Amino acid sequence: MMTKAEFISSFESFLRVKTIKLPPLLVTTIYSKGRKMFLSLLSREKPAVSYVPPEDETRILWGIKFNSCIFNAAGMFKHGEGYYTMAAQGAGAYLAGTSTGSFRRGNESKGVLHPFISYPFTGAASNWIGLPNDGHEELARRLARIDKVEGCPIGASISNSPETTDIKSLDEIIFGLNLFKSAQVDFIELNESCPNVPHQDSNGKTVYGLDFNLIERLEYISAKFIKKQNKNLPIIVKLSNDTEDNLIHPLLDILIELGFSGLNIGNTSTEYEHYKSKINPKDLDLFEYFTKNFGGGLSGRILKEKSFELTTAAAEYIRSKNLRNEFHIIRTGGVENIKDIRQSETAGISLNQWFTGYFENFARNGHELYKKLWERHE
Ligand SMILES: Cc1cc2nc3c(=O)[nH]c(=O)nc-3n(C[C@H](O)[C@H](O)[C@H](O)COP(=O)(O)O)c2cc1C
Repeated sequence: MMTKAEFISSFESFLRVKTIKLPPLLVTTIYSKGRKMFLSLLSREKPAVSYVPPEDETRILWGIKFNSCIFNAAGMFKHGEGYYTMAAQGAGAYLAGTSTGSFRRGNESKGVLHPFISYPFTGAASNWIGLPNDGHEELARRLARIDKVEGCPIGASISNSPETTDIKSLDEIIFGLNLFKSAQVDFIELNESCPNVPHQDSNGKTVYGLDFNLIERLEYISAKFIKKQNKNLPIIVKLSNDTEDNLIHPLLDILIELGFSGLNIGNTSTEYEHYKSKINPKDLDLFEYFTKNFGGGLSGRILKEKSFELTTAAAEYIRSKNLRNEFHIIRTGGVENIKDIRQSETAGISLNQWFTGYFENFARNGHELYKKLWERHE
């Protein structure tokens, strides 16, 4: 028998092709509220039978056992909820956050809190959520209480408070890293890629997009945390899928030198003109409405090629360097089936994360989504 979350998800996937014909602000309001209600329901459900992926899908990375190479991307479980649901479904790991130094309410516009929309005919979505979260302390407290399941390690995605550039915001990250380390988190993902929050450029001007203080921040984290550690807590840096190809090698050189343990590419895209041609004509009105009125980041199938291209280039470069310490490449963006996962594997990409694709799979296969992924090889 279907659970409540399975029923709602499968019914919604049938209904949404009709819903998108309603006025766009109404559709956005419905999706933005509905997404959060659904997540809250999903994270309280636990499949009747727990699933463990086939033994040969196990990955040991940085000395940590991952039951497989695929798990949820950051932003799904901002409050540290849903661990037992993910572990029982058979996820390769669980990633909480993104959290910042203190509580953030997130973005609101046109009466819509945390604007989100899905493009059903394209297998894509847009969001302008703006990192709502309860702060590092609250998230670390919740993660510390989790009774971990073997093979489903816990990651925490963290970010600085993006509006500030001063030392206080850097110290918030160091404070967070120490808190999450004490909370027995297995790895950290540093979110350096959210397109939905403003930050200051090198001239002190408020901008959205590439953050010019990135290198300074990485150096600070390296000096104040990474190089001071006895037992290594792997820190992965997550960049945008809009990262320019020619920046991948120099960025990797910096990350390796500073002692980081991996690179994830990546986050949502703001290249609306570029991706417009990939949007199904039936979704185009909604796409135009959302990107003009809210902006936000694009996710889903449309990012598949770009995430593969950038992470493949990164993996090739890492292989050519014969490093002494483990450094892994993680692919996020448009991952949705076994073909994508095998393609990543062949290119030397160690892990995959999914967000939009997870929900598409859940709508079809419910709590058995990982089981169907590995056993039916659809
Ligand atoms: C509603 C929503 C919220 C997100 N929140 C975060 C976040 O808090 N931190 C982060 O690093 N990425 C966040 N992301 C980006 C995803 O983690 C992922 O990088 C992006 O959606 C591309 O993957 P996909 O194509 O599988 O969806 C969010 C994405 C969506 C759709």
